Amino acid sequence: MGLITKAIRGTQDVLPNDSYKWQHVEGVIRQVCDAFGYKEIRTPVFEHTELFARGVGDTTDVVQKEMYTFEDKGGRSITLRPEGTAGVARAILEHGLHNGALPLKAYYFTSCYRYEKPQAGRLREFHQFGAELYGASEPYADAEMIMLADETLKMIGLDGIELQLNSIGCPECRAKYHAALKEYFSSHIDELCPTCRDRLERNPMRILDCKSPVCSGIAEGAPVILDYICDDCRAHFEKVQELLTSCGIKFSINPQIVRGLDYYSRTVFEFVSKDLGAQATVCGGGRYDGLTKQLSDTEIPAIGFAMGLERIMLILEKKQNILPDQKTCDIYIASMGDRGAHKAFELVSDLRQEGFYAECDMMGRSLKAQMKYADKIGARFSMVLGDNELDTNKAVLKNMTDGSKTEVELGEKLIEEIYRHKIDRELADCVNGLSDGGEAEAMAALLGGLK
Ligand code: HAM
Repeated sequence: MGLITKAIRGTQDVLPNDSYKWQHVEGVIRQVCDAFGYKEIRTPVFEHTELFARGVGDTTDVVQKEMYTFEDKGGRSITLRPEGTAGVARAILEHGLHNGALPLKAYYFTSCYRYEKPQAGRLREFHQFGAELYGASEPYADAEMIMLADETLKMIGLDGIELQLNSIGCPECRAKYHAALKEYFSSHIDELCPTCRDRLERNPMRILDCKSPVCSGIAEGAPVILDYICDDCRAHFEKVQELLTSCGIKFSINPQIVRGLDYYSRTVFEFVSKDLGAQATVCGGGRYDGLTKQLSDTEIPAIGFAMGLERIMLILEKKQNILPDQKTCDIYIASMGDRGAHKAFELVSDLRQEGFYAECDMMGRSLKAQMKYADKIGARFSMVLGDNELDTNKAVLKNMTDGSKTEVELGEKLIEEIYRHKIDRELADCVNGLSDGGEAEAMAALLGGLK
């Protein structure tokens, strides 16, 4: 296949017959966010490179190896966002949102860009649902944030996803930990990759999430942060655990979680699925009290997470009965001849105004071909309009599921009267009818009542 008719490696299309799955998941997420008091924020897809270098950290894999960075025509260094948190922090600072009501709660759906080696669940363009909470340093905020992620996954219908927690302490306890890591990794310096040799001096914690098999093998024997956290950080972490336990949220402690981005402090967490193979993390997040200080002179405590939507879709594809069926056409109005086609066009237009998913032919196809199309799009009802139907003012409504047929009258003023008559009642009748099996009668009653 030619270059221009093939998507770039690591990117994927969401096709018309699949997009309803995404819309369903996004709809559920928006409902959960509403219940927790989160409002949507939308930030640009590209930002100044410096934002990510400073925010995410210039010793991270993301910044060192994975960013899509380019110079724009004005000579500025621009980067496609590799994640959502830094852009949200920038927007909060720029608009002074932290001077308003706190805590500030924001969520987003974003596309993200990382030049990683593509594989199942790992793309170069992927999508995240993320949530961020600003202004609260108390463990209650950590617990609520984790609860939001947990509730979201449950409401989507995903079970069997394990929550793992850790604390990576504050800058003070981390200094002691860095010293311990330096000592440990120094004895393996010759085996480390060149990037990690550089990290040994600048940020030894980043060696822990290096993807090279040799470095990650060495990292397995490294000291763990939980042995180095200070009393305050320990008490904070214990309270988070108590709150989660009292709300029935199950978790395990995984001292290996350090997260791959530099801004984290104290609580970090990941939701891990057994259904995803190597790319098992569905959701990752944590507290990042120091991020705004990295970007400005303002320090605002914050915590958040992001979920990979492609990974969620991968799990959903493997599970039966979680996704609703795709919405199918309510009624297809087929036609024969010009008069019928014209009437079908008008009727379909009116039915749409009333909230129906209605279709008619636009390709001058034979009746047989029209009905084939109606079948393909899963139309629940069909009707044929030709000269005979228009002359007698009567047409046959066919239930496409069971083949049953009902004769309905077509009034001359059908179109105008749709707007005037008891549409609410007829709609309710229709819905009741659909649920008790009298579908053709209900649809006939609706169309008749509209005359
Ligand atoms: P992250 O762990 O880098 O954290 O990414 C969050 C989630 O995005 C991952 O758990 C995964 O589901 C998904 N993800 C990451 N990379 C890829 C990829 N290449 N392909 C497909 N999915 C991917 C962050 O991005 C932080 N900003 C999360 C956060 C928000 N922390 C605080 N607030």
